Amino acid sequence: MCGIIGFVGREQQAAPILLDGLQRMEYRGYDSAGVAVRSESKGLQVKKTKGRLQVLSDMIHGGADLEGTVGIGHTRWATHGEPSDLNAHPHVSEDGRIALVHNGIIENYLELREHLQKQGVRFSSDTDSEVVAHLLELHYNECGNMMEAVGRVLRRIRGSYALGIICADYPNTLIAARKDSPLILGFSGEGNFIASDVTAMLRYTRDVVYMDDGEIAVLTAEGIDVFDSELTPVEKEHHQVDWDVSAAEKGGYPHFMFKEILEQPEAIRKTVQPRIRDGRVVLEGLSMTAAEARDISRVFIIACGSSYHVGMLSKYVWERLLRRPVEVTLASEFRYCDPLVDEKSLVVVISQSGETLDTMAAMREAKRLGGRTLAIVNVVGSSIAREADDVLYTWAGPEVAVATTKAYSTQLVLMDLIGLYLGDLLGTVAPEEYSAILTEMQLLPQKLEQVLGQTEHIQYLASRYFNHHSIFFIGRNLDYAMGMEGSLKLKEISYIHSEAYAAGELKHGTISLIEPGTLVVALGTYGPLFDKAMSNVVEVKARGAEVLGLATEPLRDRMEKTADAVIAVPETHPLLQPSLGVVPLQLFAYYVALHRGCDIDKPRNLAKSVTVE
Ligand code: AGP
Repeated sequence: MCGIIGFVGREQQAAPILLDGLQRMEYRGYDSAGVAVRSESKGLQVKKTKGRLQVLSDMIHGGADLEGTVGIGHTRWATHGEPSDLNAHPHVSEDGRIALVHNGIIENYLELREHLQKQGVRFSSDTDSEVVAHLLELHYNECGNMMEAVGRVLRRIRGSYALGIICADYPNTLIAARKDSPLILGFSGEGNFIASDVTAMLRYTRDVVYMDDGEIAVLTAEGIDVFDSELTPVEKEHHQVDWDVSAAEKGGYPHFMFKEILEQPEAIRKTVQPRIRDGRVVLEGLSMTAAEARDISRVFIIACGSSYHVGMLSKYVWERLLRRPVEVTLASEFRYCDPLVDEKSLVVVISQSGETLDTMAAMREAKRLGGRTLAIVNVVGSSIAREADDVLYTWAGPEVAVATTKAYSTQLVLMDLIGLYLGDLLGTVAPEEYSAILTEMQLLPQKLEQVLGQTEHIQYLASRYFNHHSIFFIGRNLDYAMGMEGSLKLKEISYIHSEAYAAGELKHGTISLIEPGTLVVALGTYGPLFDKAMSNVVEVKARGAEVLGLATEPLRDRMEKTADAVIAVPETHPLLQPSLGVVPLQLFAYYVALHRGCDIDKPRNLAKSVTVE
């Protein structure tokens, strides 16, 4: 999705800082980029272009061509209007005095555009964002005060926005506004920042303030003032970002995705270890009492993509541990399905970014219906984290690759921990099982290291299978839900068509797609249903499928009797087995994509955080 960076400094030139910030947000996915910088002698200078950031950087010689200590930058992911030089941001008012960058969608842009056109305003792009630049010019000419003009424009536009605005008449001033699209303010000795993503300014500052909806900020090199929508000053709380700068850098690895796969043992350790004390799960951030837990009649889990797949796995785990019905719904469906949420519902929303618009909107709907919301989020201070009743962080560190790996894994163990905690509160989990799961959970990092030790074998298997056009993942129970993630990983980065099926469901239709040579990834890590799963493997084998099996070490031999190739993972508690089983699937997808020459960290058409509906 789009990325915003803005900087106003004392002496430092803005353009190189803007390019650096944009480069750190490249992972979000974009199709064009641009910057605008203001200086006393040259006024507003705007450069933008379709394509990679490198094209922009070359065009302005790494920023050296643009003079000025205040500026804004943007990477665009097209929504209104195709990717093109003209549709790229910043957009500029007709008189050339105001430049802005915008994330989000102006829902009433068509009516505003027509209105402005009738007044003779000429548009140079197809975007919704450009109307804001022209409206600003109009109101600025009327009132002569930029801050007042911004306030007036915000009252006229509908939809979502994070805005960064500079004006030729305002030396060393940057104005920002936010509604339903993230925007963070950063404070440093050299100058001050706005960014839609904290990684864009992490190199310069960790001292941040999260803007809230309806707020406007005025930045100078000396400080930042924040106002509410009535332009009344508001006091904001500062936060220190504890993410490691190097964690958001590739550090010699060929791809972020590969680096993040390898980081999983440590990420899981960080998510789990601090939450276990004296053999008990301790969840700071979850304010629920035992009486409140007993009052829960039903659990809803809402999420998108991989986070939804974590929800699918958690349904199996939580229903067993909590003995309460758990419903998992795609966030994009939830809002429109008249959900049966009430005051007795616990609504868990899972999101790595904490900014996914579908998930955010679903959470608001759940709150409106009286549900108690618990957010599982990776990005501290993100919108979902701030709006939920309770939030528990996954502590995976910054995840840059579009295809999630370590965020997924930490979501999964955190959901297991919460399931255990609630099961204990409710008295629905036996003490022996509680201890057994907790013990195994602490062993996951070292067992994961063993899984990662098989990287070469998985690379070899990928070289054997990367030419397949269609791949099926089959499994039962937890293996089925884990297969959904394996299939999504493969699809998103290698562009191979792939489907995940409940193994027992194949014979009800899908088996007709199996023909000689079709690759079936047979997931047999869930011990209690291994035999049942194997009978389905035999069915596809009988129809000529090539089978790549995944099993636990103790069941490797049995899988080898039927499958053409096997990957084995260490055994753990059956409910935790997907935490180990998913990693070979991530590696398989990674190497298949590598063999196919795909752009692994930035797969086509995808964005890291999806802030449009
Ligand atoms: C997974 O690899 C994808 N990038 C995608 O499915 C992602 O999980 C989904 O968009 C949800 O994102 P979130 O966790 O940030 O809400």
